[in-house]
Amino acid sequence: MSTTRPSAVIVLAAGDGTRMKSDLNKVLHTIGGRSLVSHALLAAARTQAPHVAVTVRAAREQVVPMVRSTWPEAIIADQDDIKGTGRAAECALEQLPTDLTGTVLVTYGDTPLLTTTTLVALTTAHEGAGNAVTVLTARVPDPTGYGRILRDADGAVAGIIEHKDALKAQAEGGEHADAVHIDEINSGIYAFDLAVLRTSLAQVTTDNAQGEKYLTDVLAIARGAGGRVDSFSVEDPMEIEGINDKTQLARLGRELNARTLDRLMREDGAIILDPATTWVDVEVSIGRDTVVHPGCQLRGATSVGSGCEVGPDTTLIDTEVADGASVVRTHAVLAQVGPNATVGPYSYLRPGTTLGARGKIGGFVETKNATIGDGAKVPHLSYVGDAEIGEGTNIGAGTIFANYDGVNKHKTVIGKHAKTGSNNTFVAPVVIGDGAGTGGGTVVRGEVPPGALGVSSGPLRIIEGWAQRKRPGTDQAQAAETATPAPVEPPTPVEPVETNGADPA
Ligand code: UD1
Ligand code: CA
Repeated sequence: MSTTRPSAVIVLAAGDGTRMKSDLNKVLHTIGGRSLVSHALLAAARTQAPHVAVTVRAAREQVVPMVRSTWPEAIIADQDDIKGTGRAAECALEQLPTDLTGTVLVTYGDTPLLTTTTLVALTTAHEGAGNAVTVLTARVPDPTGYGRILRDADGAVAGIIEHKDALKAQAEGGEHADAVHIDEINSGIYAFDLAVLRTSLAQVTTDNAQGEKYLTDVLAIARGAGGRVDSFSVEDPMEIEGINDKTQLARLGRELNARTLDRLMREDGAIILDPATTWVDVEVSIGRDTVVHPGCQLRGATSVGSGCEVGPDTTLIDTEVADGASVVRTHAVLAQVGPNATVGPYSYLRPGTTLGARGKIGGFVETKNATIGDGAKVPHLSYVGDAEIGEGTNIGAGTIFANYDGVNKHKTVIGKHAKTGSNNTFVAPVVIGDGAGTGGGTVVRGEVPPGALGVSSGPLRIIEGWAQRKRPGTDQAQAAETATPAPVEPPTPVEPVETNGADPA
């Protein structure tokens, strides 16, 4: 790539975006996990232009913080009551150093697929040809709504006519009566010589169908003043597509997703089995030979290592998955899954969940604010909240960490290589020592010391013949009546408790 960089880039983002029909300003809608204005701003900033300015007006109190969080050095320019893209560019120019010269690019806050590569190529072409203005153009099957590129008899760019003005010209006849049929459109993205832009904008009027100060008028003015005006055509028309309504938001969102998946497969060696049902945000990373099964969403700052299995039907939000781990039919938010660990199916990892190397969170388990050590397992049907579980410990099926007393949250700390029984309740605060155990159905309050067995369920009480007496005439009583007699010697448990009952594997 050439090292040409513009002196400044201006991103126009002051518009109301009424066609979006939304309470949220248009440029704050997101695709690929990033707002439209942030996409535009990053493409601009990555040209390494020393000055990046954003023109704002509508929803200023939300747009400005978004701009600042994306690119803190961005210059904020406020547009006044005069409407139009020309005025928006002029307001930004007023915020740039008065002695600045060279090339200034103008882009839009609602055009999210535009790349830095294209902006640099535009700058290089513009400066190479010594142009006053270079407009980025494309030929499209349906030019409705776009400004049309007017060319003179020699084929040189003569100016731009807005769609509404072309319709008016068609209705009235005369000059530009056929302009509506022109399929070469103005992307709205330009490279200008800064001095030319300044002097030309001062001459732009609001004498047009929309009563606005059009940036497009600068082309004819610059040409009239003897400047070279030329076009640069973009290779991929999707790059210049602006978002005006929610159908375009969906369409460009899908396109960005497809591009993200292509990059992850081609450059990073991820295996994405079904791109049509896989949604991955732009900041997500996926390692080599990791298989992403159908129906997954990887969002935010999620990172997945190499050689992992993700999905099917898994959503990971701001979650880290280390090499070799497997996460199946799971919803995870702000969680960390260690190397070669396994999660799911059907589990919910809430913020603050950390699963150690080779650890296991099995089926139908919810975890929150829980550190589960290396090789530790929570295999079945449990809630683990505000907990620390040591390495190699196994938690029995159906265990509830009762962390909330209705007012405060309390913690449960379990040591290493402990084995707790099935259907336990840990009424926090609870401490269970290294190598300790609990019996099935135990309710633990307080502490079980290292190596001890905690048991709270009483011995089994037998009331003989209950069904026949209390439920006479029912199928239950009938079954009791005809039951095979109990074996002569019923097995007596060694401990007054049953085992965990769950498969500890
Ligand atoms: C504009 C162009 C049109 C081009 C099209 C490409 C003009 C007059 N027309 O039309 O030739 O084909 O883009 O998409 O330039 N904005 C402001 N302040 C304003 C008005 C707009 O900052 O007062 C910003 C908007 O936030 C948006 C961008 O400028 O990011 C474009 O505005 P929009 O109203 O969508 O322009 P179009 O009518 O689409
Ligand atoms: Ca537009």
